Amino acid sequence: MSSAPEPLVQYVTHSPEETIDLGRKIAGQFNPPVLVLLLGDLGAGKTTLTKGIVEGLGAAAMADVTSPTFTLIHEYGMARKSSPRVYHIDLYRIEDARDLMTLGLDDLLAENAVVLIEWGEKLGSAMKRTFPGSRTVEIHISSISDTTRQFELREALTEVSNGN
Ligand SMILES: Nc1ncnc2c1ncn2[C@@H]1O[C@H](COP(=O)(O)OP(=O)(O)OP(=O)(O)O)[C@@H](O)[C@H]1O
Ligand SMILES: [Mg+2]
Repeated sequence: MSSAPEPLVQYVTHSPEETIDLGRKIAGQFNPPVLVLLLGDLGAGKTTLTKGIVEGLGAAAMADVTSPTFTLIHEYGMARKSSPRVYHIDLYRIEDARDLMTLGLDDLLAENAVVLIEWGEKLGSAMKRTFPGSRTVEIHISSISDTTRQFELREALTEVSNGN
């Protein structure tokens, strides 16, 4: 029973600003607890979209959202009563399941948080064990040209398509 998640909806943007606006617009769909996997190559726009989502959730100003490339996890929304907790994670440097375990992703979801994960592909089958039955949204991002990006949102129950 591992059919691919159904495509939900597609968007195309033509600038980073449009991508941030798109993030603001879709943020309302992410009611915690939810795992949002941002899937796409280097420079696809994962961090740019996240800026809009975090701002749209009311968790932080877009300018305060930076790539967690080295720190792995950034937290937003803690100081704002009306905001959900938002965790922004970058798995680019994660090499194996043991590394992944040290992040404590299941604890983060248990906090009724929105968990946004760049390079979410790396969760792979580990996610099925870690977050059984959690709501997962995949955002597949492709570069169409220097300034054009396509975003496809799909919902999955516990599975991540690994693209091969
Ligand atoms: N329509 C667009 N939407 C988003 N970014 C765009 C767009 N057009 C051009 N860009 C450029 O693409 C780059 C996207 O960078 P961003 O850091 O968001 O990517 P990323 O997917 O997070 O990369 P990484 O894998 O390195 O974390 C930026 O340099 C941005 O200016
Ligand atoms: Mg990034």
